[in-house]
Amino acid sequence: MSRTRTALLAALALVAGTAGAAVAAIPPDVGAAAVPCTVEYKVQNQWDTGFTTAVTVTNNSAAKSSWAVKWSYAGNQKVTSGWNAKLSQSGTAVTAANESYNGTLSTGGSVSFGFNGTYSGTNALPTAFTLDGVTCNVDDGGTDPTDPTDPGTGSRVDNPYAGAKVYVNPEWKAKATAETGGSRIANQPTGVWLDRIAAINGVNGGMGLRAHLDAALAQKGSDELVVQLVIYNLPGRDCAALASNGELGPTEIDKYKTQYIDPIAAILKDTKYAGLRIVTTVEIDSLPNLVTNVSPRATATANCDTMKANGNYVKGVGYALNKLGDAPNVYNYVDAGHHGWLGWDDNFAPSAALFKEAASAEGATVADVHGFIVNTANYSATKEDHFTVNDTVNGASVRTSKWIDWNRYVDEQSYAQAMRTQLVSIGFPSGIGMLIDTSRNGWGGTARPTGPGATTTVDTYVDGGRYDRRIHLGNWCNQSGAGLGERPQAAPAAGIDAYVWMKPPGESDGSSTAIPNDEGKGFDRMCDPTYTGNPRNNNNMSGALPNAPLSGHWFSAQFQELMKNAYPAL
Ligand code: GLC
Repeated sequence: MSRTRTALLAALALVAGTAGAAVAAIPPDVGAAAVPCTVEYKVQNQWDTGFTTAVTVTNNSAAKSSWAVKWSYAGNQKVTSGWNAKLSQSGTAVTAANESYNGTLSTGGSVSFGFNGTYSGTNALPTAFTLDGVTCNVDDGGTDPTDPTDPGTGSRVDNPYAGAKVYVNPEWKAKATAETGGSRIANQPTGVWLDRIAAINGVNGGMGLRAHLDAALAQKGSDELVVQLVIYNLPGRDCAALASNGELGPTEIDKYKTQYIDPIAAILKDTKYAGLRIVTTVEIDSLPNLVTNVSPRATATANCDTMKANGNYVKGVGYALNKLGDAPNVYNYVDAGHHGWLGWDDNFAPSAALFKEAASAEGATVADVHGFIVNTANYSATKEDHFTVNDTVNGASVRTSKWIDWNRYVDEQSYAQAMRTQLVSIGFPSGIGMLIDTSRNGWGGTARPTGPGATTTVDTYVDGGRYDRRIHLGNWCNQSGAGLGERPQAAPAAGIDAYVWMKPPGESDGSSTAIPNDEGKGFDRMCDPTYTGNPRNNNNMSGALPNAPLSGHWFSAQFQELMKNAYPAL
């Protein structure tokens, strides 16, 4: 990472790694000389016809008010679209010039930009760079075995789950094993939720982040292993609900940065963990609220209006992506809601645009985003087999049914694939992949339909055929009748990196009655089975199980029901 070499050595032969892992060859260390500039050219993602690169330029000469970086390709690489620099190409020669907003480059200062490109054959790295005509050192982004601060190989694979085991959280495993029948699933990988500052060192003597990563190294052995972390502690967290409100008030963005993200990033960059593939799911239930639950909509909440106005969700997500993305073995996946939230036209494209805004805030770039996760901790089915959104009944579109209610999607897989396409179309790297949380969307058991509903009306057809048995798609708390969904697996469908169990089955979504606590959590009546609803679930009953503990706490009765209604069955 921080290693430099002289311009002389920059002419050495380079090797291209396997797909997605192109790094320059590493010459022996030649010592640090005063150099006018350093360029790090890092291929962050590569697939058979394209790649995404992040470039960081450090200026060691006089301060500049504008700049231009140039390099040439040995192959047929073509820059197709870029960000944070004006990119142009003539033949094999590429020029990246500053944008109006990042022309200032102080002595010792750095600037980063990125781009997508196409290639065929070998995507060989450029061997020489200039900054305003002066030759720079090349920092290859690769591992320097002689440099103890060098965190790793500097390259990411396209799908971190492919060919890899996934970390089994020993604390969740112990709770699952203690349940009757729980050993059937106790070895499934689940997310590690860093849901408060104290979780970094371990809550009440529990495992902290280093303890998890050390356990992950032990599970890894000589295989590849993914560790799944949930980054979940934004200021003013869970603005549209109360059950998962957090410890940070709406204005505490600095505390979020310095006491939460910075310490996590420092641990993830420890070279000891360089061999792990660390998946971070970044701030679920945050950005979409700024589209769907703000004024003037009927669903608005005062807290979401506040978080939109103060910008701290956007800043927090941008900061997290930027800092966590600095570790070359971290794979950031941003939360993208689920189809029953963002599947309407009014919500879909505006949410994607907001994700881009956040991925461009606080020093982040879209190259810091490896993909997106959908359905986190929700209950939407992965695939509805007995109807599609294009079906009609007696000439009427199923989109007019009460259940679908003009949504464009009826399940998570179709939603995730469409959202992926949308995100790429607005500038996210074309290699991004999606995750689907299938922890609790199985909807098996005796109530599961075995065929399409009666074609009497659109409602009999959809309601009779749908796996998702919720009273309303907007219900989200401890849903009665839910079951475990697809077991975690890599690359289950086009554009989907994995089915994951990011929400640990058995952990409550919120308490059924008010419970005093020191976690910042409120009582949300969507978790009360007697509640008759609000505009966000179109004033329907909540469908929640009774006697639930605080969110995140173990809920044995729910765990048992999830196993009973698992689909595929256990
Ligand atoms: C909820 C809780 C959080 C917990 C998570 C996983 O979102 O608010 O504290 O860690 O669920 O169960």
